[in-house]
Amino acid sequence: MFRVLIACAKGGVGKTTISTTLAGAWALEGRAVALADADPQGSARIWCERRAGFPGEVAALDGTRRDWARRLPEGVDRVVIDAPAGAMARDLSRFLDEVDALVVPVLPSVLDMEATVRFLNPLAEHPRVASGALPVGLVANRLRPWTQASQQALSQLGAWPCELVAQLRETQAYALLAGLGRCLFDYQSQNVREHQQDWVPLLRWLERARRRR
Ligand SMILES: Nc1ncnc2c1ncn2[C@@H]1O[C@H](COP(=O)(O)OP(=O)(O)O)[C@@H](O)[C@H]1O
Ligand SMILES: [Mg+2]
Repeated sequence: MFRVLIACAKGGVGKTTISTTLAGAWALEGRAVALADADPQGSARIWCERRAGFPGEVAALDGTRRDWARRLPEGVDRVVIDAPAGAMARDLSRFLDEVDALVVPVLPSVLDMEATVRFLNPLAEHPRVASGALPVGLVANRLRPWTQASQQALSQLGAWPCELVAQLRETQAYALLAGLGRCLFDYQSQNVREHQQDWVPLLRWLERARRRR
């Protein structure tokens, strides 16, 4: 079983969007996927419920419960954990001690990037992160590549000690599809396919993390 945590202390950066899209992508590949929603707001859990009956179903788990992992359905081989906003490394230790990869979304704005640094600094001291046992990948999200803000953010992120593993552009498709229990990988229109390409480096990075375990 391969477990990935999607976390960043900042709210609204794309944790749930990335969690649901990733879970959907893997489920559509034929993997047995569970999504553990550790946010009491429950958006990821509701997404799974809306998705029930469509191809690429994802099992929902209540990740706010300490015993969530014992409730995993049999045969699950991929687990995505959607962390709540406001959770710092110390609050996430029960996940950080267990997961195989950590994905940290970051928005291309000064305030968001400063908040992300405050999240990443204590995280870097976690023994599994410090030893390299737990790979951490940054995902720049909601990029508008033609803007100065996005370009500046990308050049700054390139100098951070964590690997920048993907660049997801902004599109309304994420919000529209999430509300329907769907994801970018459920559709094949030209627009959606272009945005699917943004995910290729992240999916490859996760695959390498999975094989490296
Ligand atoms: N790449 C993107 N393009 C456009 N909108 C996005 C993108 N990523 C996230 N969003 C939107 O931003 C809002 C916050 O995203 P969400 O995934 O709920 O963040 P979090 O879980 O970190 O609070 C949502 O309305 C979502 O649809
Ligand atoms: Mg969320």
